[in-house]
Amino acid sequence: MRVPVIAGNWKLFKTIAESVALVHELAPLVASSHGVEIVVAPVFTALSKVSDAIEGSNIRLAAQDCFWEEEGAFTGEVAPKLLKDAGCSHVIIGHSERRQFFAETDITVNRKAKAAISTGLRAIVCVGESLAERESGLTFSVIETQIQGSLAGLTVEDFTNTVVAYEPVWAIGTGKTASDAQAQEVHLFIRKLIAKLFGQSVADAVRILYGGSVKPDNVKGLMGQPDIDGALVGGASLKADSFAAIVTFNS
Ligand code: PGA
Repeated sequence: MRVPVIAGNWKLFKTIAESVALVHELAPLVASSHGVEIVVAPVFTALSKVSDAIEGSNIRLAAQDCFWEEEGAFTGEVAPKLLKDAGCSHVIIGHSERRQFFAETDITVNRKAKAAISTGLRAIVCVGESLAERESGLTFSVIETQIQGSLAGLTVEDFTNTVVAYEPVWAIGTGKTASDAQAQEVHLFIRKLIAKLFGQSVADAVRILYGGSVKPDNVKGLMGQPDIDGALVGGASLKADSFAAIVTFNS
């Protein structure tokens, strides 16, 4: 039985005060949700205050990125242990916007994932094809390359703190969701690939989230698919009522 993860990626939105206000509004709306891992990912500067604000609630905290070194002359970077220090239990790694705008590659994603996991953070590792890749019939080969590269060298034990997010780039922020069947097809492909690379028990246990225009009105169909174990939500996570409606998709 895989516990679903519903994670809100707030991207570059909200001040500290707005972030704290959002979790204050959210917490009572999701307080009775059991059997679901609820995660929010504010901007770095809001992490510590949001961490204080969610204390005692069932909401967990993620950063949107991290570096792979612990410390040193790396101007502008944030180490996994500092994210833990700020109250994070999770970190999103390799989001397509990082890959697209900040030159992240499978190699850097892999380094970051390993560093995060060895620090005890749960890494949400993102993969996904672009529209051009999908239209050229390259979806499965792109995903295969990304999964192999991003998760290279992880041990069976590492997988207890690894979550995969499949986010087709063409569905992010576009209002265009992959159909339930399109998403399920890729999720199943990822699970089979993980079985081949890391063994069946790892594949059976790993949570694979879908991301890309998840909304209260499409979450149920997506979550009804056998290989979809949660959602990484952008736009709809910025309001307490819509994110809460996604978290409570089953009630
Ligand atoms: P979206 O973003 O829900 O706004 O499409 C998803 C994501 O980028 O994680």
